[in-house]
Amino acid sequence: MAAVASPAVDTTERVGAGTVEELQDAGVLTVAGTAIGARHGITVFWHEGQAYAVDNRCPHMGFPFARGTCKDGVLTCNWHYARFDLQSGGTFDLFADNVRTYPVEIEDGRVWIHPNRTDAGQERAHWLRRLDEGLEQNISLVQAKAVLGLHDLDTPAADIVRRAARHGLRFGSSRNADGWGDGLTILTATAHILEDLAPEDQSLALYHGVRSVGGDANGMRTTFDLEPLSVRDVPIERLQAWFREFIEVRSTDAAERTLRTAIAEGATPQQVATMLCAASTDHYYRDGSHVLDTVAKAFELLDLVGWEQADEVLPNIVPQIATSSRQEESNSWQHPVNLIDIVEPASVQLPEVLDLDATPSGQWDIALVDALLEDDPAAAIDALMAAFRGGMALADAAQAVAYASALRLTRFPTSNEFGDWDTVLHHFTYCQSVAQMAKRVPSLELARGVLHGAMVVYLGRFLNIPPAHLPGKRTLAAQPSDPEELTTKLLALCDQQSQVDEAGAVVYRYLTLGHEPQPLLAAMGGSVLREDPGFHDFQMLEEGLRLYHDLAAVGRLEESWQVLVAIARWQAAHSPTRRATTQTYDIALRLHRGEDIYAPSRY
Ligand code: FES
Repeated sequence: MAAVASPAVDTTERVGAGTVEELQDAGVLTVAGTAIGARHGITVFWHEGQAYAVDNRCPHMGFPFARGTCKDGVLTCNWHYARFDLQSGGTFDLFADNVRTYPVEIEDGRVWIHPNRTDAGQERAHWLRRLDEGLEQNISLVQAKAVLGLHDLDTPAADIVRRAARHGLRFGSSRNADGWGDGLTILTATAHILEDLAPEDQSLALYHGVRSVGGDANGMRTTFDLEPLSVRDVPIERLQAWFREFIEVRSTDAAERTLRTAIAEGATPQQVATMLCAASTDHYYRDGSHVLDTVAKAFELLDLVGWEQADEVLPNIVPQIATSSRQEESNSWQHPVNLIDIVEPASVQLPEVLDLDATPSGQWDIALVDALLEDDPAAAIDALMAAFRGGMALADAAQAVAYASALRLTRFPTSNEFGDWDTVLHHFTYCQSVAQMAKRVPSLELARGVLHGAMVVYLGRFLNIPPAHLPGKRTLAAQPSDPEELTTKLLALCDQQSQVDEAGAVVYRYLTLGHEPQPLLAAMGGSVLREDPGFHDFQMLEEGLRLYHDLAAVGRLEESWQVLVAIARWQAAHSPTRRATTQTYDIALRLHRGEDIYAPSRY
């Protein structure tokens, strides 16, 4: 056990650590360091004829260095054996961190320790560097500590997202033959849901995003960027046509080079988005929802990191588009009803019926949604075409289709096979991606995606047999009324398995009582973050919340509530998990608060 010296603070803001003789006898001692900003104490070693002072807390998980070992100028923590240069505090094991050292002075036989303070700028630089290292080494504890450290310094979330995204793009997507990774989608999703979360959950959400990007980049092989063509003044229309043709024949390199040329030639974001949406909808429901989901997410990421990163972000999605499956080749799109025969004639008519200049209002008729949910694909397409003829904006039609697809989740009965949750989720994210891109770049080509989305909703009809119903009056009356009791109950339901109907009832009860939505949204966000959420969980939360906000913004309250019920049902079906991800974050949080991790638990 290390000796403990009584601290003496003198007027020069240094802390006394006893006499040299005492230190030599003890070998190591600790002193309180609060006076010079070391709130966990300072460990002073006598080693190789010199005194060294370090923070008493191992930067890995807080074990006291007073119980560490020095050998040949290397300090080893005796818990997980992280090693540190005793002189500089630099770590040899990147899962830990550098430990803060303090200048030591011997004066008249006494040992004095001087402060080693840093300002906020240095602290921020330190945590940004640790964020990079945590990503490079794919060490989740380092990532969590860095996010907490940066959050504490009021670092804007956008800065953390940009930093992590840059890493994911440079070391993940660009080195992955498949391009865009799930981590970038999760990172972008977490950035979007932050405002709906409780303040204490925002760092946790960012941690999930950072961790996912780190996982994408881990162990990737190196690939090399293609150069843009060294041509000038190629019309964008020609580049768009080339791109679609190269994607059509699955010529990934040619398509990537064309895309890079368009960006280098100064094509606008709208022109490039139109090109990618056209190629993505030249075939039906490519790769399930994944292609259009990725295109939408890539543009949302560019909203966060800036268009100047387009040549880093967008080429990553080309392999996925080029190699994607085409659902018109699948049996379910051709038998027993040939959906292609229904959609193709309508697609041809789009230039005549669709007004691309129509302004979205969110005022679609609920009868359109009813038609989409019926068992008649031709009637669904007819209803959409009639809406276009009546002047409906593309974004409004896309929102109606997205809402219909959300209702497939709201009405998903637990008698279905569990894996089919993913089927209806893919339908929903596809329709939402079309809706988001329709707001950004309405085009005749993308309008085909709305028709394809309608067929996706039709194909999901068998997953609503029998439909789960919203709770009736009696079921609702059996629920608590108090908003806090309701959110607490929702979280408790997600501690158990398969409380799907009950979770939906609690959320619907909360909303129909007219309580302020924000605490409910925060509880739903927190409910996902405390689990080991995967790609689909983030998709459900982000796209569900987005549609909820879009509907609520135009006064469609009942519809917006049904979307939140869909989210709650999904969450209850997928909870609880092992919650191992949160455990790492909790360790970092406890360290951040100065708690002792090494001490035995009192419970
Ligand atoms: S190595 Fe020091 S606490 Fe883990």
